[in-house]
Formats: sequence, structure tokens, C-alpha cells
Amino acid sequence: MRKLCVIPGDGIGTEVTPVAVRALRRLLPDLQVVEASAGWGYFEQQGNAVPERTLELMRECGAGLFGAVQSPARAVPGYRSAILTLRQQLGLSVNLRPVRSWPGISPRPGIDLMLLRENSECLYIGQEHMASADKAVAQRQITRQACAILAQRAAQVVRQRGARRITLVHKANVLPLTCGLFRDTCRAVLATEGLDGLVDERLVDVAALQLVEQPQRFDVLVTTNLFGDILSDLASYWSGGLATAPSLNWGDGIALAEPVHGSAPDIAGSGRANPIAALLSAALLLRYHWALPEAATCLENAVEGFLNDTQGSDLGTQTTERVAEGVLARLELSQK
Ligand code: NAI
Ligand code: MG
Repeated sequence: MRKLCVIPGDGIGTEVTPVAVRALRRLLPDLQVVEASAGWGYFEQQGNAVPERTLELMRECGAGLFGAVQSPARAVPGYRSAILTLRQQLGLSVNLRPVRSWPGISPRPGIDLMLLRENSECLYIGQEHMASADKAVAQRQITRQACAILAQRAAQVVRQRGARRITLVHKANVLPLTCGLFRDTCRAVLATEGLDGLVDERLVDVAALQLVEQPQRFDVLVTTNLFGDILSDLASYWSGGLATAPSLNWGDGIALAEPVHGSAPDIAGSGRANPIAALLSAALLLRYHWALPEAATCLENAVEGFLNDTQGSDLGTQTTERVAEGVLARLELSQK
């Protein structure tokens, strides 16, 4: 029996995750759901953003759905972002970020790409120090092991998508050691997987320009943590913005689906949070972690059908419930 650990978090995280859980329950009637705490609200009460119990429940279930957490704008002693802790503690070292055109809300049709971002190292190891009063230094870490895991996941995604191209994005002309190790390791692993014929490369600045100019030219993109963070948010513009951008934090036998957006304090509690990013994140869990591609397609088709019929016009004051009802009704129809 499949188990899901739901971590709603703060703000609209608590509003969009229940919608995704409803959809998953409809697709997997046996699904066992447990809820766990994390985030700023929990930290304010308990002095800890991710309790040990949440990590235990995640390990027990092997699959999770995260909403969003709020982070204070200033440094607060003892506080560390809950999602960074979860990624690190659970070994969720790859981040999957699909971007595709959706009817009625995307600025351009015909885009369907998948970005794989390394999720555990690069500049995000947080090793910064003041070398002197006027000099701040940050360290960038790239390991062969993390790049190899990333490339293996990329190979799996390429096969599942029937992809025609894998683009490695780096800046090896300026950073030959770190970006060079990334590029060479990915190339070696993809060659072992028999996929070398599909591999292509771009410098990150060129990739950024092309993602704006000709996004339909990309298929699977593979890159390091910081470049991936920036490029995937940029590319999410084509899917209709943050409210429709899903992601999957992917580890070995464990995965945590997560809408890309944050806790949206400006609209929290108003019923206007769009649950589409959360729904599409659940579809990633179905396709890539639980290996249930038909169920994933069913959910994506329900979202597409809803957007096709409404052309985005239902995204207004009652967004959460209208989208939930619209998508769930289409899921029910497709299962009859
Ligand atoms: P945000 O993603 O929360 O909001 C940006 C804008 O997009 C807001 O105007 C918001 O109303 C809108 N928006 C976002 N998701 C939406 C949805 N599903 N439906 C409709 N509108 C939506 O980013 P922001 O404002 O920079 O950060 C707010 C808080 O969230 C901060 O404390 C930040 O640290 C945290 N955050 C957490 C993330 C996470 O949990 N992974 C990611 C990004 C930010
Ligand atoms: Mg980001």
C-alpha cells in the first residue's frame, strides 16, 4: 500500500496541499495519508522548523507532498529553511522542474521541457565567510558523485519522455574545475547509458537567452544547483507563472513533491491560491517516484481539460475551490 506524508507548512501551503491530496486519493483509493509539521509557524511555537518526527514520517512513507513555508526576511538564530533541511536530511539530491505550455494561461504554445537541477551542493552548501572586513567569499562545491546521480536520473527521464535532446548547462569556460567536473561526469554517465548521441551543451548565459527567445528548442536540461534555480524560475514564465510551476525533490527510493511557489502571505486565507502547481507536483510523484505514468497523465489531462474549458477565466476570487472542483470532476469523468 502506498503512503504519503503531507507537510502543508505555512500560508497557502495549507490551502493547496489538500486539493492535491484529494486528487491523489481519487487516483489511488488505497493511499494512506499522514500529516507532518514543518515551517515558520511551527518554529515560532516549538523552536524547530523541521521536527525529527517529520523526518521519521517521511522516511517511513518514502513519499511526501510539501506545501510551502514562510521564511523570515532577517536572520533568526536557530532557524534554517525547512525545505533545505528536508532536502539535505532525506538525500533528495535531484530537483525535477517541468515547464510546458498550458491552454489559456501560457504566453506561448508548443513548449514542453524538463529541467533537472542538482539539489544538494554548488553554492548552496552555504559556506560563506568574511575573508576580511571588505571581502566576502562563498565556496562552490561540485562532486563527481552528485553529478553522476543527476545524470542517471536524467537518463531515466530521457527514456520516459522519449526525449530527443539533453542539454548540459554550465560555465566551464570560466569555471573549468567545478563546471568541468559537472560536464565531464554527466557526459561519461550518459555515454554509459548509451545516450551520448543526444547530449548537447550550452553556457548558462546563452541558455538563459535561448530559454527566452526559443524555449521550444529545449527538451531535457541538466544543470547545477544555482544555475538551475534561476533558469527554472525563468522558464516557468512559459507555463503561466509560479502558480502553475511544479517540482519534485527526488532521492533514492524517496521523493518529496513541492509546488515552486512560496507561502504567498499576500493572498493567504483569501481562497485565491491556485492549486495547479500542487496538483502538477502530485503528478510528478505519480510518474517518476511511484512509476504510475497512466495516473500521472490522467491528472495532467484533467488540469489541461479544465484550463482548456475555462481559458484561465476561473482564476479569480474563488480560485482554490473552483480549480479543485473543475479538476476533480474531470478526473472522475476520465475514470468512468
Ligand atoms: P511567493 O511564491 O509566495 O509569492 C509570489 C507572488 O506570487 C505573490 O504575489 C503570490 O500571491 C503569488 N502566488 C504564488 N503562488 C501562488 C498561487 N499558488 N496562486 C496564486 N498566486 C500565487 O513568493 P514570495 O512572496 O517571494 O515569498 C513569500 C514567502 O514564501 C517568503 O517567506 C519566502 O521565503 C517563502 N518562499 C518559500 C518557498 C518554499 O517553500 N519552497 C519558495 C519561495 C518563497
Ligand atoms: Mg527558486
